[in-house]
Amino acid sequence: MFEKLLSSAKFGPWELNSHVVMPPLTRNRAQPDFSPNEQAPLYYGQRSGAGLVICEATQVSPEATGYPRTPGIWTKKQTALWREVVDQIHAGGAKAVIQLWHCGRIAHPDNQPEGCYPIAPSAVKPKMPIYTDVSGGLTENPTPREMIEEDIRGVVESYRSACQNAKSAGFDGVELHGANGYIVDQFASSNTNLRTDDWGGSLEKRMRFMEEVLKAMTSVYDPACVGVRLSPYGKFNEIDDENPAAKYEAMLRTAEEAGIGYVHIIRPVVSGNIQMKASALDGEVIDTARRIFSRRVIGAAGYTPQSAEAELQAGRVDLVAFGRAFVGNPDLVERIRRNVPFAESDEATFYTPGSKGYADYPAAT
Ligand SMILES: Cc1cc2nc3c(=O)[nH]c(=O)nc-3n(C[C@H](O)[C@H](O)[C@H](O)COP(=O)(O)O)c2cc1C
Repeated sequence: MFEKLLSSAKFGPWELNSHVVMPPLTRNRAQPDFSPNEQAPLYYGQRSGAGLVICEATQVSPEATGYPRTPGIWTKKQTALWREVVDQIHAGGAKAVIQLWHCGRIAHPDNQPEGCYPIAPSAVKPKMPIYTDVSGGLTENPTPREMIEEDIRGVVESYRSACQNAKSAGFDGVELHGANGYIVDQFASSNTNLRTDDWGGSLEKRMRFMEEVLKAMTSVYDPACVGVRLSPYGKFNEIDDENPAAKYEAMLRTAEEAGIGYVHIIRPVVSGNIQMKASALDGEVIDTARRIFSRRVIGAAGYTPQSAEAELQAGRVDLVAFGRAFVGNPDLVERIRRNVPFAESDEATFYTPGSKGYADYPAAT
């Protein structure tokens, strides 16, 4: 019934056990020093029945942090704990990728390591509030400091060193978080990048940051093992580009020219973690990726096993990601195989600290 979805997949240099991807899922359970928590190897190991596991968005540097309890990969300890996660993913038969993250303006100093302050392409303050543990609720976002040339160069370098750490942790690949209004998207978008130097002012110049970061990443990893995640037409985190179609195409062209192995496309049917109405754009964004990007495409957002199988059979995508369902279904691939309905994922514990709603979801009996 799900012949293609469950069959092995050649994905660039990798042989995957299935066409199922566990996409990055932020769970806000990192230790106070921004290391993955002690249960992370267990949690990821439980989900290693996927062909490809992409670990949650992970900060490339202390100042890349935006939210409470999200992990980093800039210290030796963080890297060593990621090694344990990778080992568990490999033991289950999946390939392991880590999503590299810099929050830019979507950040609060109370959530960051001491001495950090949010930086962004331009000093555009987010209108919405942000959660901090210090206040125990939503707090006003500060106005970020506009990056100077030296900051930009430094951030690019932090992606390079994060890739070096990812490599020593054993990750098979790295994914640039270019979606959902974080720093890459902030540089790319006309309402968050008001610069008039070489890093802004035209669509082409707004792409330069992504270009430089991909250059840094592919200097460490074989380009075939590098991907980027994009959220075309997405408005999450107050992204409001003057021409979202042109921006999306430019980001795809940048990915194509960087020679990277895959693009991971979030269809507009989900915004961040919020379900939206299905629309014609959901199909269009996949077609556009295929038209501009010559290598592999992962489809994400709103898929069911049935729709995933149909899209794979039609050759529209190469792999399919199941996000929210992977939280509550560690054995998601096995459930598809045995035609067991998915269990509910408890939204109330998506982002809460502690073990409840993390590695305690049972496999189907
Ligand atoms: C709890 C949660 C955490 C998420 N964290 C990330 C993340 O770290 N990086 C990212 O690119 N997307 C993140 N997303 C988006 C998912 O990867 C996925 O694209 C989204 O849930 C839509 O897919 P679905 O309909 O299969 O759930 C998150 C979503 C949820 C529900």
